[in-house]
Amino acid sequence: MESVLVTGATGTLGGALVDRLVEAGWRVLAATRRLDDPPPTAEGDGTIEWVKLDLVEGTGIEAGVADADAVVHAATAPQGDTMAVDVRGTERLLDAAEGAGVEHLLYPSIVGVGEIPFSYYERKREAERAVEASPVPSTTLRATQFHAFVDELLGTVAKLPVWPLPTELRAQPVDHREVADRIVDYLADGPRGRADPVGGPAVHRLGELASAYREARGLRRAVVRLPIPGGVAKGFRAGKATRPDHAVGTVTWESWLAERYGGPPESVTDRAGASSG
Ligand SMILES: NC(=O)c1ccc[n+]([C@@H]2O[C@H](COP(=O)([O-])OP(=O)(O)OC[C@H]3O[C@@H](n4cnc5c(N)ncnc54)[C@H](OP(=O)(O)O)[C@@H]3O)[C@@H](O)[C@H]2O)c1
Repeated sequence: MESVLVTGATGTLGGALVDRLVEAGWRVLAATRRLDDPPPTAEGDGTIEWVKLDLVEGTGIEAGVADADAVVHAATAPQGDTMAVDVRGTERLLDAAEGAGVEHLLYPSIVGVGEIPFSYYERKREAERAVEASPVPSTTLRATQFHAFVDELLGTVAKLPVWPLPTELRAQPVDHREVADRIVDYLADGPRGRADPVGGPAVHRLGELASAYREARGLRRAVVRLPIPGGVAKGFRAGKATRPDHAVGTVTWESWLAERYGGPPESVTDRAGASSG
């Protein structure tokens, strides 16, 4: 049975990956900084072992890769010390993977890194470069924002009576479970360098996504356009975080909302006029 180390195994993508890899028959080494309360996972033909690993402390990395044929590096710290976790942590992991003879490292990244001058995206681009420069055979897979991320983002304003939002930013959210499916396929196929990106089924303005979210949750709130200056917002407005030419995801934002909050999936386009795609 082949073994795969999954960093960030408690995260949104990592959690979906662990379940799918177990089902696909892998022996999964699921990494977390906190071993006390590992989450439950799906039953499958494979097996799962939780391992303690901290990319910043540098602990558990060599032990984690020692037995791994492949690595999916899904750990990240968008709100934390991205230089320490995403850049230095990735370099540490690559060094250890090279030493252990890992045959395939798969790195999930984000559509728009390298084009939008957002500091987290700049760190992700640095990590991509480290992956690409490493002797460890690799696959880098960029995806658009996850539905779960947009959901969480809108959750931060949900309690406010008025939602001040940069309504004109464009996003093409994708279901992270579909990204996980793609990763499982790529692990079976072997290293391919830069893979085709994975985008959600449609490009929307954030204002449209917020309107659908508001209705799905039955909230009566005004969405107010918040103008944001600067290069980051300009990049998102220009659609640099989207890849409509790779709209391979099938789960729409409306379906995601219906699954999460109940009710029939209603089309953003039906409700809010033409989609901005
Ligand atoms: N979110 C999106 O919309 C999106 C879109 C496209 C691509 N991606 C990419 O997909 C990957 C996964 O993203 P996600 O949103 O699923 O992540 P997430 O839910 O934020 O999870 C991040 C994970 O990183 C782990 N972690 C944080 N600091 C660590 C450290 N110092 N050492 C070891 N592990 C650490 C955490 O594990 P513990 O706390 O258990 O240690 C956690 O499981 C990332 O590469 C991200 O850039 C995300």
